[in-house]
Amino acid sequence: MKPVKVGVLGLGTVGSGTVNVLQRNADEISRRAGRGIEVSHATARDINKKRACDISNITVLADPNEVVSNADIDIVVELIGGDTLAKELVLKAIDNGKHVVTANKALIAKHGNEIFAAAQAKGVMVAFEAAVAGGIPIIKAIREGLAGNSIEWLAGIINGTGNFILTEMRDKGRDFADVLAEAQALGYAEADPTFDVEGIDAAHKLTILASIAFGIPLQFEAAYTEGISKVSQDDVTYAEELGYRIKHLGISRRTAEGIELRVHPTLIPERRLIANVDGVMNAVLVQGDAVGPTLYYGAGAGADPTASAVVADIVDVVRVLTSDPENRVPHLAFQADALSDIPVLPIEKIETAYYLRMQAEDKPGVLADVTRILGEKEISIEAIIQKEPMPDSDKANIIILTHRVLENNMNKALSEVEALNSIQGEVTRIRVESLG
Ligand code: HSE
Repeated sequence: MKPVKVGVLGLGTVGSGTVNVLQRNADEISRRAGRGIEVSHATARDINKKRACDISNITVLADPNEVVSNADIDIVVELIGGDTLAKELVLKAIDNGKHVVTANKALIAKHGNEIFAAAQAKGVMVAFEAAVAGGIPIIKAIREGLAGNSIEWLAGIINGTGNFILTEMRDKGRDFADVLAEAQALGYAEADPTFDVEGIDAAHKLTILASIAFGIPLQFEAAYTEGISKVSQDDVTYAEELGYRIKHLGISRRTAEGIELRVHPTLIPERRLIANVDGVMNAVLVQGDAVGPTLYYGAGAGADPTASAVVADIVDVVRVLTSDPENRVPHLAFQADALSDIPVLPIEKIETAYYLRMQAEDKPGVLADVTRILGEKEISIEAIIQKEPMPDSDKANIIILTHRVLENNMNKALSEVEALNSIQGEVTRIRVESLG
């Protein structure tokens, strides 16, 4: 049988990794797929730039339109990122009857509903395993491996760059900007690294996970997104003293009122396996009603790990090239006409425990004022510690761990606490999850 022809849009970190893995493992991959897979064309903005892969047998073009319109190409692999040109090219490829593999989380999270509808109408596949958690086959695990479960919640470290920064801050006391620069040099970070540190990249990925877990349309705009740029060395240290680690988590939970969809720094007990996932590694913990908790761990970014997921998708597409489109695994795990309209909850309606840190005047009655306000809002305190003022300051650090409370109540309490004359500046608030 003739080899399947693939066109790769983008020869950056992931594009080069994909070409390398396809070439290196060509024999085993074709034994799995049942056919040879050949990258016949690729595109790059600068076609003369030296590449991290062997392109001697690939026609490299500057114009991606030539690839999506090439009648000989069966599968278009979109690895250019962004959601404007990428969207245009993917829709064009679908319209031309091509199957698409993409690692583009922004594209799927923001435009997936439209893209999948177009793909369904044309009877082609759009595969996106590499869009979430790099090399971890988490999409396949939830969509197929957990298909018998009612999924209750999931929580993941799904941005490698952010996890690398938090790990280096904790272990080596390194400076935020310095670690970020290293993540960029290693090819982990997004083209715009604020996507990593402000949680936008994680929110893209969480949006996708929530859809396949709960059978809801993709709703990136409804996700609550908070980054790690305000996490201080003090918070990392105090969290450890209390037996917790700070991780940047994406959390999605089904409640009676709706779906929680939130990305934020989170204190988690240090004894949890996921609390010990360090560096660029990712992990996703999924709670199913039948299976209980399952944990998926692996490299969340980088050339070869991401290529591993891209190539697995290419193999999947090759295997179903001849199958009836009606009987394929649905893009979002649930049949397209069976998606649920259960709402995504605003952050004010979620319930969680909190770590609070405030700078207070070290004088009688201050703590009593703070605990009175919390009590009035029905916020129960689990632990409280006061740290002596630093030599250059007359303000003490007060750290409070609370029990679970509605975010709306916490917001009201914190505005009253911040209005106290004895409290300086804003109260730092980090949500706490036991993940038990
Ligand atoms: N910038 C992303 C990360 C790349 O650091 O996780 C993988 O999606």
